[in-house]
Amino acid sequence: DAVDRLGDMIAAARVIVPFTGAGISTEAGIPDFRSPGGLWTRNRPIDFEEFVASRDARDEAWRRRFAMQETFAAARPGRGHRALASLYRAGKIPAVITQNIDNLHQESGFAPDHVVELHGNTTYARCIGCGQRYELAWVRQRFDGDGAAPDCPVCAEPVKTATVSFGQAMPEDEMQRAAELAQHCDLFVAIGSSLVVWPAAGFPLMAKQAGARLVVINREPTDQDDVADLVIHQDIGEVLGPFVRN
Ligand code: OAD
Ligand code: ZN
Repeated sequence: DAVDRLGDMIAAARVIVPFTGAGISTEAGIPDFRSPGGLWTRNRPIDFEEFVASRDARDEAWRRRFAMQETFAAARPGRGHRALASLYRAGKIPAVITQNIDNLHQESGFAPDHVVELHGNTTYARCIGCGQRYELAWVRQRFDGDGAAPDCPVCAEPVKTATVSFGQAMPEDEMQRAAELAQHCDLFVAIGSSLVVWPAAGFPLMAKQAGARLVVINREPTDQDDVADLVIHQDIGEVLGPFVRN
């Protein structure tokens, strides 16, 4: 069946590049965005322009983030993360490209330099003006004290989670590294993403055009099933669990 074919493709590949979305982290208890009950079915996203323009929007963004804190803090890598980490340790995966912001690939054993975070990271914050890093505990203390989202003590611009909001520029270095990975692999595996958000969703196509075989693993159909060499509409933990090596 399809899972056996995946096993054959993984065994035959020299360089595998995984590309992950929120679906790889649902097993860890973190909701995705577009499934029933997903984050964007409950709340409209706050885009970057709004965040910059409105203090209310910033307060709301931080309220939402702190409401998720226990979920993020308790989350541990799932079978999908651990399977990829096993293939990374075996030398088959040079790095993972992720749209996720939850830090779980790093926690599963990938070196920080080998996680290309296209949409940033929500486990710390940065000033949107000068880029100064702040820890969430620091933001929380200010927020609880003043009841308001803090501005940067260095340059007075707003402090935001180190994530990429809609309308915010993509990180250039990560875009470059993702392109190089996509163009230098023989197997590209899109895992747990609806593949509807661009420019991130361009990487599977880029890999395919550069000659890689493309596999899509996702419970529901994605925007790129029609271009994939193999599509597996099953649970990620079940499909990748057999590749976990401890
Ligand atoms: P989506 O919520 O759009 O897609 C996640 C996909 O994972 C869905 O199609 C689910 O069917 C599937 N899925 C969930 N759990 C699964 C499981 N256990 N096994 C198999 N499939 C499962 O999330 P992304 O594609 O990651 O960006 O979203 C892309 C971007 O949109 C995010 O990075 C975020 C969001 O807005 C920004 O915020 C900029
Ligand atoms: Zn600043």
